[in-house]
Amino acid sequence: MTDSHPPLIPITKPFFGDEEVDAVIEPLKTGWVVQGPFVKQFEKKFSTFTESVFSIATTSCTTALHISVAMLGLKPGDEVILPAFTWVSTANVIEYMGARPVFCDIDLGTLNIDPDQIESLVTAKTVGIIPVHLFGLCADMTSVMRIAKKHHLWMVEDAACAFGSWYYGKHAGTFGDTGCFSFHPRKSITTGEGGMLTTQSDSMNQLARSLRDHGASRTDLERHTSKYGFLLAEYNLLGYNYRMTDLQAAVGSVQMDRAVTILESRQQQARRYDQLLSNYDWIMTPQMLENYIHGYQSYVTLFCPEVPSLKNVDRLHVQRNDVMADLEAQGIATRQGTHSPVIQSYYAEKYCLVPEQFPNAYIADRLTLALPMYVQLTEEEQDRVCQELRKAING
Ligand SMILES: Cc1ncc(COP(=O)(O)O)c(C=O)c1O
Repeated sequence: MTDSHPPLIPITKPFFGDEEVDAVIEPLKTGWVVQGPFVKQFEKKFSTFTESVFSIATTSCTTALHISVAMLGLKPGDEVILPAFTWVSTANVIEYMGARPVFCDIDLGTLNIDPDQIESLVTAKTVGIIPVHLFGLCADMTSVMRIAKKHHLWMVEDAACAFGSWYYGKHAGTFGDTGCFSFHPRKSITTGEGGMLTTQSDSMNQLARSLRDHGASRTDLERHTSKYGFLLAEYNLLGYNYRMTDLQAAVGSVQMDRAVTILESRQQQARRYDQLLSNYDWIMTPQMLENYIHGYQSYVTLFCPEVPSLKNVDRLHVQRNDVMADLEAQGIATRQGTHSPVIQSYYAEKYCLVPEQFPNAYIADRLTLALPMYVQLTEEEQDRVCQELRKAING
């Protein structure tokens, strides 16, 4: 690329500095690179920030979700309700346990589970519900909690995208039996790969710590730093190796120190996009709801030059892709918000699912459009994104 080309604008970029570089050297120097003191420090900072009583670091949000459903005793024959528009791993962890994911359509305004449709899906086999706080906007927790309580369901919050998201003054991930966060680089703070399980229950905390570590009765660090270190722990539970390394946690711990800066910058950029796009009537910007703080893991819009329906969605999808291709040609990356597992063949074929059952999830799958958002994104670049968007739609 020559100098005359405008700089590329990626969809996201981690916000790292010298502090992360220095931090990651520490475990390398001491030689303790597996789960150890930095994981402990990262967990502590995470608990302080989210006001969660317990935080347990894992290798990803998916593995935090897997530990959660295992702890809650999910078994073959059970059913779990989840939104039909979410990353596939929300459903996969239910499958891992041999249970059945029961998909619920979403509200097209919030892109989250439609609370009005949940109850009709509850059967005698339903044991739990996994609301997802998609892109950083909390699900309607008042409704979800009321339904969970009424039907004696457990609740695991998929808070993969919800770091820095609050609902009526409480941080996402602190409502359910557990909350599960992701630190993949598409998220506001990152450790490369990584996750966090939050819980307010002491027994869940202890069980989660054991299950992430092969079901061990004590950690490697405890064994190596205490008397009788030659004695192996006991392994009386069927556990997994879902331990975060200290290399990742050293980065995560510094990312926590930057959390306020990162989240404030995302808020500012969201406000700016809202304003710049306010007269683009063919695009719906993310909803702002009273008493919710949107974490803006992603700034996801809906491409809707016409009121979208199952009739016009495939045509509009082609048009949206043309717009995305035009932006890409200008060096601006955009992405579809996320996907709908119900149209992935594994789920569609196994459970005979068709888009007509989940019209809004299908429309969201086909028409969402995420715009670049990261701390380093300048105002000029944001302006350019919006200008090129306008040009792309006007042809
Ligand atoms: C809603 C949702 N759930 C779960 C995950 C899985 O997170 P991870 O990649 O950390 O396993 C993601 C990842 O993007 C997600 O968006």
